[in-house]
Amino acid sequence: MTETSADRVVIVTGAGSGIGRAIAVAFAQSGARVLGVGRRQAALHETAKRHPNIATLTADLHDRDAAQTVVDAAFARWQRLDVLVNNAGATAVMPLAETSADRIAELFTLNVTAPSLLAHAALPHLRRSRGTIVNVSSTYGHRPLPGAAHYAASKAALEQLTRSWALELAADGVRVNALAPGPTESEALTAAGLPDTVVEQIKQDEATRIPLGRRGEPDEVATWILHLADPSATWLTGQVLTIDGGLELL
Ligand SMILES: NC(=O)c1ccc[n+]([C@@H]2O[C@H](COP(=O)([O-])OP(=O)(O)OC[C@H]3O[C@@H](n4cnc5c(N)ncnc54)[C@H](OP(=O)(O)O)[C@@H]3O)[C@@H](O)[C@H]2O)c1
Repeated sequence: MTETSADRVVIVTGAGSGIGRAIAVAFAQSGARVLGVGRRQAALHETAKRHPNIATLTADLHDRDAAQTVVDAAFARWQRLDVLVNNAGATAVMPLAETSADRIAELFTLNVTAPSLLAHAALPHLRRSRGTIVNVSSTYGHRPLPGAAHYAASKAALEQLTRSWALELAADGVRVNALAPGPTESEALTAAGLPDTVVEQIKQDEATRIPLGRRGEPDEVATWILHLADPSATWLTGQVLTIDGGLELL
């Protein structure tokens, strides 16, 4: 049977806002059935209202058992799994002078450990469906970010996991790629605990630095996730695609 986008079952973490919501809606619009995951039920509900193909599950990916629970929920509902999008993540403004073990652990648990445990739990299903994993990194997964070094390091780790898993799973026909967005409209800066005035200043500074002259919109990122996960991208694996209005070129 030739697999099409419309047959697929997709897990999207962090689907209650920003890039994750756009990814969930874009997959649903392509005909896929989507399980959107996050901590805030109300936010997920807003996402689910955008398309009937989106089901939701509240889970805190800091919890060790959450990954298996998420994968089991998708499989119980649809008896298959084709795509895992590891989108949930957080940023942290953390200059070295203010760095603490607890904050490093919290950041890495969400940005590195949770995607790893989700991929681990999804693997038997992805092997069966010859499915695919897309990890959401950042421009700063391969560029330095003074003042937020551990965010950059966590995304660098995710990119290296992407390449290593791509090789490890190639024989199973499971493709693994990453998307590295540049500054994109979302709740990320507010979620990092920054006051509104600082958020606005950061956004203005970023827009000025980006060659295309503005921050990205979540839809502009989501569309490339669909391309990376598309069954027609049969020979693409282990790649990190940067979508950032040209920021990486500077
Ligand atoms: N926006 C950008 O400029 C940008 C640039 C490069 C990369 N990225 C990456 O893009 C991804 C999406 O971020 P975004 O910008 O769309 O930010 P966002 O709006 O803050 O979205 C992050 C999502 O992750 C979920 N999440 C956070 N902690 C979680 C946890 N412990 N368990 C389950 N879900 C959790 C949040 O939902 P709950 O709070 O309800 O759990 C939220 O929906 C992240 O990996 C981020 O690092 C963003």
